Amino acid sequence: MVRPAVLITRRIPASVAARLEPVCEVELYDGAGAMSTEELHARLAGKQALMCLLTDRVDADVMDAAPGLRIVANIAVGYDNIDCAAARSRGIVVTNTPDVLTESTADFTWGLILAVTRRIAEGERLLRRGEWTGWALDFMLGTELRGKQLGIVGLGRIGRAVAARAGAFGMQVAFATLDADASRASTGEPSWTRLGLDELLSTSDVVSFHVPLTPATRHLIDRRAILRMKRRAYIVNTSRGPVVDEDALAWALREGLLAGAALDVYEREPEVHPGLVGLENVVLAPHLGSATVETRTAMADLAARNVLAVLSGAAPLTPVVA
Ligand code: DGY
Repeated sequence: MVRPAVLITRRIPASVAARLEPVCEVELYDGAGAMSTEELHARLAGKQALMCLLTDRVDADVMDAAPGLRIVANIAVGYDNIDCAAARSRGIVVTNTPDVLTESTADFTWGLILAVTRRIAEGERLLRRGEWTGWALDFMLGTELRGKQLGIVGLGRIGRAVAARAGAFGMQVAFATLDADASRASTGEPSWTRLGLDELLSTSDVVSFHVPLTPATRHLIDRRAILRMKRRAYIVNTSRGPVVDEDALAWALREGLLAGAALDVYEREPEVHPGLVGLENVVLAPHLGSATVETRTAMADLAARNVLAVLSGAAPLTPVVA
């Protein structure tokens, strides 16, 4: 019997490859960085499954390079890198990796909130430059979180997990949802206050984004939105870079319209807006939200289990397009 073939676009843990190998012909690309489009087309030809990363753009042309393709399993919860409409019209299943990365991403978001409000990265840079002259009462003062409002934009799994940690820091939670159905649903958390986006922006001390990238959320935070915010507020983004207009953010930070920002995601990864790199009041992380051994292994494993399910004729575990 001919075994189905799967292309994996980047190195995955050996334990996950071992799950696939008894059932599939596995082709693993282990070059540095993302494959070129030409190489992706060439390697995908003849495959029934693709396991890919958020850095792989999977559009209609890519899908057409493999007419027998049955599943695109993204090793990420976000799937804006995949043309889901094109997949649907070709009968290709698309899956993502929800849940398994929720807690690690929420933890990391809090790492960023603390890093920017307590100036941890800025202090570390100063110390490494040899510029620390010693303890002083007024040296590098940050902002306390206790008694402040955390504004969560997008109350999905990760937004909720971030909100759930706020009590430990004495913060009140306000949230805004952009999806009409979700905004009618109850959160089950009586202490969290639902606000419209504009009110959330104008009343929150820290605003953290947890929305998927869609046409509606691209540049959700632009100059107009920033001008609604408190002058001493912080922006934290661990969702997708284009949710925040980086030009507008750099301008606002330069002009002192915000106290600071902490970013894990960028509009044109791995490029970072040059106007942000030189600013001290920005923490810049290289898309590490889910980057723990445990979580990344679980993400790859879930993608592999989706591939195996679909190739065996069963329903995918975590479908985006079924
Ligand atoms: C995702 O899964 O979408 C994350 O951005 C990866 O950390």
